Amino acid sequence: MNILITGSNGQLGNEMRVQSALHPEHRYFFTDIAELDITSGEAVSSYVESNNIDLIVNCAAYTNVDKAEDDEPTALIINAEAVANLARTGKKIIHVSTDYVFSGKGFMPCREDDEVEPQTAYGRTKLEGEKRLLSLTPDAVILRTAWLYSSFGNNFVKTMLRLGKEKSELGVVYDQIGTPTYAADLATAIYAIICHQEWKSGIYHFTNEGVCSWFDFTHEIFRLYNEQHPSEPIVCAVRPIRSEEYAYRTPRPHYSVLDKAKIKQTFSLTIPYWTEALNRCLKQL
Ligand SMILES: NC(=O)c1ccc[n+]([C@@H]2O[C@H](COP(=O)([O-])OP(=O)(O)OC[C@H]3O[C@@H](n4cnc5c(N)ncnc54)[C@H](OP(=O)(O)O)[C@@H]3O)[C@@H](O)[C@H]2O)c1
Repeated sequence: MNILITGSNGQLGNEMRVQSALHPEHRYFFTDIAELDITSGEAVSSYVESNNIDLIVNCAAYTNVDKAEDDEPTALIINAEAVANLARTGKKIIHVSTDYVFSGKGFMPCREDDEVEPQTAYGRTKLEGEKRLLSLTPDAVILRTAWLYSSFGNNFVKTMLRLGKEKSELGVVYDQIGTPTYAADLATAIYAIICHQEWKSGIYHFTNEGVCSWFDFTHEIFRLYNEQHPSEPIVCAVRPIRSEEYAYRTPRPHYSVLDKAKIKQTFSLTIPYWTEALNRCLKQL
């Protein structure tokens, strides 16, 4: 197959690029905004046609939650209108979405058909992207994920490592619960979907296994880092704080654990536990 990967300079796109070497049976077209701006319907259709694309993996998105709050129209163009441009090509699509489509007010892992109720501009625009995609290409695959990190790009892991080296103490929220997701493991799941003998459209949830708070996540980042770097350990105390003590510009979900039973069963996936995944990522850094 000829596979187009959009947004391939981002965290997930880069992991897709790394793992493409494991699947040489396909031909890959890795693009980011400079090569293919997906907000241009004309550019998308001519790129797909001239390169004989069979399948699109959309890793492009407007991912800055706070900026989206200030500029929802721009987020909507990238997270929804551009997704419709991809859908109009009529090609198979694997599109990536987010836990932010849910309210985050529950206390049980969210299933794919649970009620959606985004609380932020980012969440609203991502949900709109899902809707527009499904209205144009009902047999698309939508993968909702959460708390993404990677050795590529900027993310929570890198921020905590930097702050841990600069500060002697750090307050991190412990009343927001979710599951970190190593983008490399999400990329592995995407390749499993691509290589599955049968195309199984639908909405799926994917994160690593397990559950933690941002406080627990930070604690584990430092613990594993110190295990890997005993001669230059991070000596920063991590203090649990409530969300109201942290000046969030945009409200964050309190509980955004995703139920992964459907993707595991459909594609026979075994998903790594979040601490094991984190350990692998830290070794890459
Ligand atoms: N990061 C998370 O914690 C998280 C959580 C849940 C779900 N997700 C979803 O997971 C997916 C991948 O996220 P990620 O963290 O890998 O994102 P990312 O690192 O922000 O990468 C997104 C890429 O898309 C590019 N892009 C933006 N506008 C574009 C356009 N018009 N045309 C083509 N490319 C464009 C970005 O370029 P610029 O950098 O120049 O804008 C960037 O290289 C997204 O759908 C996101 O919504 C992410």
